Amino acid sequence: MNSSPLPAAVPALFPDAAERARLESWLSGEFSAILPRIRHGAVTPTLDMRVFRGQLQAFDFEHPMPLERALGWTLEQMEHGIVQMSNPRYFGLFNPGPHFPAQCADRVANLFNPQLATSASSPVPVAIERHVIGHMARRAGLGAEATGHFATGGSEANYTALIAALTRAHAGFAADGARAYPGAPRFYTSRDCHIAWAKIAHQAGIGRTAHCLVDTDGRGRMDPAALQRALEADRAAGRVPVMVVATAGTTGGGIIDPLHACADIAREWGLWNHVDAAWGGAALASDRLRPLLDGIERADSITIDAHKWLATTMGCAMFMTVQGQILSQAFRATANFMPSDAALDPYLTSAQWSRRFLGLRLFLALASAGWRGLGAHVERSVEVIARIQERLLAAGWSLANESALAVLNMVPPADRGDVRTLVRRVVASGQAWVAYTTFEGREVVRICATHGQTSLQDVDLLVAALEARP
Ligand SMILES: Cc1ncc(COP(=O)(O)O)c(C=O)c1O
Repeated sequence: MNSSPLPAAVPALFPDAAERARLESWLSGEFSAILPRIRHGAVTPTLDMRVFRGQLQAFDFEHPMPLERALGWTLEQMEHGIVQMSNPRYFGLFNPGPHFPAQCADRVANLFNPQLATSASSPVPVAIERHVIGHMARRAGLGAEATGHFATGGSEANYTALIAALTRAHAGFAADGARAYPGAPRFYTSRDCHIAWAKIAHQAGIGRTAHCLVDTDGRGRMDPAALQRALEADRAAGRVPVMVVATAGTTGGGIIDPLHACADIAREWGLWNHVDAAWGGAALASDRLRPLLDGIERADSITIDAHKWLATTMGCAMFMTVQGQILSQAFRATANFMPSDAALDPYLTSAQWSRRFLGLRLFLALASAGWRGLGAHVERSVEVIARIQERLLAAGWSLANESALAVLNMVPPADRGDVRTLVRRVVASGQAWVAYTTFEGREVVRICATHGQTSLQDVDLLVAALEARP
C-alpha cells in the first residue's frame, strides 16, 4: 500500500481558507463600488475592442497570473464592455437588472454546487424547486396536479412543450421520431412569436417548415380565423397538426394572443395547447394584472422566464404542465449508475441531465418579497412605461401597440427622420438603450421597462435622448 503523501492541491484552483476569505472580501468590495458606477455610467459599451482583443491575446495560458489580477482585469472589461442591464436606463430586450435575492441564490449555488439531476443527490434543492413550480402553477390556475421544472431559458421550455406535444400526438414518436407520423407534423404560432420557435422545430427533428406562422389581426394578436384556415389547409394537404402556441406577451409589442380562442381551437382539433408566457407570465404575480392572462389556466403547458420580468439572473425559466405523465414518457431514461425515481427526478422529466440550482433565485425572491413584492415590481414597470408614453405623446409621438404590459412601441413624428437612425443615435449616446422593431408593418421604437429601480429622472433622460436632434 502506497502511503506517501499525495501531491498538494493546486493552490491557484483551491486556495487556502485565509486567501479565499481575503479574495472574497476584496471581490465584494469591488462589486459594491462597481454597481453605482454602472447605474450612472453609459448603458452601451465604451471599450476600445481593438485594445481589448490585443490584451485578450496576451492570455496564452502558459504564463498564469494571480487570480486577483485576472479578476481585476475581467471586472474592468465587463464594466465597459457590455450593454449594462444593471443600468436603469436600459429599456431593452426583456433582460433585467437582476434583483439581490437572485444574486444571493447564485452565491449559494456556487458554494454548494448541488447536482439537481436527482432527488437522491439533492433532496432539498429538488424539493425547493418543486415547491416554487407548484406555487407558480397554482397562480396560473393549472391546479394542484400540475408539475414542471426549471429550465435554462424560454427556448428550452418551449422546446420541451414541442417534444411533449409530439410525444402525445403519436405513440410511435418516441421510437421513430417524425418518421412515425403519417404526414408532416405542424405546430402553430402567430407571426409575432419569438423566432426561436424555428430553431426549436429544427432541433426537434421535424424541420423548420413544421412551424406555421399564423397571421395577426392588425393589433398584433394571433387571428383565430387565420389559425382555423391554416389548420384546415394543413389537414387537406395531409399534414398533421400537433400544437397551438399562444404567446402571452409578444417579444416586439407585449401583445397577448386570444388565450380562450386558442384554447378552444386546440380543444376542437385535439391539439396540445401551449402558452409561451416567457415574459408576460410575470403578470401572474400581480392581482391587478392577472386578469390580462385570463385563459392561461386552460393550457396543457406554460413557459415563464423568471430571468425576464421576474428579474432573476440569467438562465432561469419555468416549464409547467398538467400532462406530467407525457413529460415522463418523453424524457424517460434508464441508467444503472443513476438512482431513479421517475416521479421526483428532474433528469427523467426534462431535457437536461446535470442541472444547476436555478429555482433558488425565485424561491429567495418570493420568500423575501412575497407575491405582493413581485407583483409590485411588475406593476411598477407598467407605471414606468405609462410615464414614458405620456411624455412621448405630449411631444407628438404616436402609439403603435396597445399593450397593458410594460412594453411600448412608439412612432416618432415624421420630422425626426427614420426610426433605425433615431434608435442608433440614442444607443450611441450611451444615455439610454432602446430597440428598433416593426409592429403590424410599421417601424417603431421599442421601449421596455426592465429595471426595478428606474426613476423619473431616468425616464426624463430617456425622453431627452429620444427627442435629441442630430
Ligand atoms: C415570448 C418569448 N418566448 C421565448 C423567448 C426565448 O427565451 P430565452 O431567451 O429565455 O430562451 C423569448 C425571449 O425574449 C420571448 O420573448
